[in-house]
Amino acid sequence: MATQPDVPRLTPLPPDLGRRWFRKYPQLGRGPVSTESVTSRQWYEWERDYIFKKAWLNVGTADEVARPGDYIVREIHAAGASILILRGRDGEIRAFHNVCRHRGNKLVWDYRGSRKSGAFPCRFHGFTYDTTGQLVFVPEEGNFAEPMCGRLNLPPVATGVFEGFIFVNLDPEPQETLEEFLGPIASHLRDYPFERLPHRYHYQSYQRSNWKLGLDAQSEVYHVPYLHGQTWPKLFNREDRPHVEMLDVTLYDRHRYGNWPGNPEYAPRDVEVYALGTYNSITRLGGDHQPTGPGINSSDAPDWGFDIVHLFPNTNILVLPGVWHTHQFWPLSENKMLWELKVHMLEPETAGERFSDEYARILLRDALREDGTTHEHTQEALESGATSEIHLQDEEVFVRHGYWAVEQEIRRHRDGTRDWIGR
Ligand code: FES
Repeated sequence: MATQPDVPRLTPLPPDLGRRWFRKYPQLGRGPVSTESVTSRQWYEWERDYIFKKAWLNVGTADEVARPGDYIVREIHAAGASILILRGRDGEIRAFHNVCRHRGNKLVWDYRGSRKSGAFPCRFHGFTYDTTGQLVFVPEEGNFAEPMCGRLNLPPVATGVFEGFIFVNLDPEPQETLEEFLGPIASHLRDYPFERLPHRYHYQSYQRSNWKLGLDAQSEVYHVPYLHGQTWPKLFNREDRPHVEMLDVTLYDRHRYGNWPGNPEYAPRDVEVYALGTYNSITRLGGDHQPTGPGINSSDAPDWGFDIVHLFPNTNILVLPGVWHTHQFWPLSENKMLWELKVHMLEPETAGERFSDEYARILLRDALREDGTTHEHTQEALESGATSEIHLQDEEVFVRHGYWAVEQEIRRHRDGTRDWIGR
């Protein structure tokens, strides 16, 4: 006789509890969402043309280019661009197309580095640029028809920095400033000491999945008791609260903000303390790393767990006490993406903290692999055509808003019309 599968014990939700966000944001609708934008080449082309070539994109943080001459390179496939981001000798952060003006070679070949001299020589024939993008040296310059230095400079890319987050816009003539693009979501970036918690480590994964499927999985905790039931048991849910409801949801036209409760009764194993963001680094630094204003933990809940600040189109900033992450999902095609996670927190100071730190990294990696598996499985299943829509409950409002915002932004640029929230 077959044995029953071991299913989690659940308590049904009260009938109306799960419809708060439907009522707050009726513009999003309640019905099924088409999966066409996940599987269609046409949608990918629209996303390239009307989103990734138009929007301000977060490409890193100022601490990645902390000193003059430091640089990072970002390959933004969806915009067909390689971007060199550097800090000039004058302290300014600038971005350029990573292309030598001589014969078009990629100027910088590595992912990050530092040129203390401030000189960026091309490895093909030696054309050399300074940190303002000016061409300053050309071998055998007299053999060219005209003088080259100071004339054939690196093509600049619109760049902005807000609260330590670096943004670029690949539109040669951006239709809005960074400040206009961020709008009210900016208030959620002001109240957390992002710059005081340094970048510690990162993970990245190339996946056979549409980029939005990755973003979806990092936009709700509905899945946590199931997918991560072994990795993070009782992280959010507890016996009297088997499902976790969001504490606050604020949707802006493109961006979104929300927070979730933690489980104050959760008793982590010692080594997990660090991993779960309750590590005592805050106390160690005299409270300097506490959230400081209404932009974070907007619900002021005593059991606050974490916030998500979503920056359209592809960045989630996950904020916890003393720890913050960025998840970014970079499309490579309609069914391929690069997923990048960067973790910012303090350096451990003792052997015990180091041990916990290493354990935490592995625990996080295991949970990410669980998430990643669903991205690829979902992509494959949706491409089969067996279903053409997905069904979202109220607590998946971030997922619903994600599809809505992408569609609206495409309509805005393509058709000159879109719907707005709260206008
Ligand atoms: Fe760069 Fe020739 S392509 S120097």
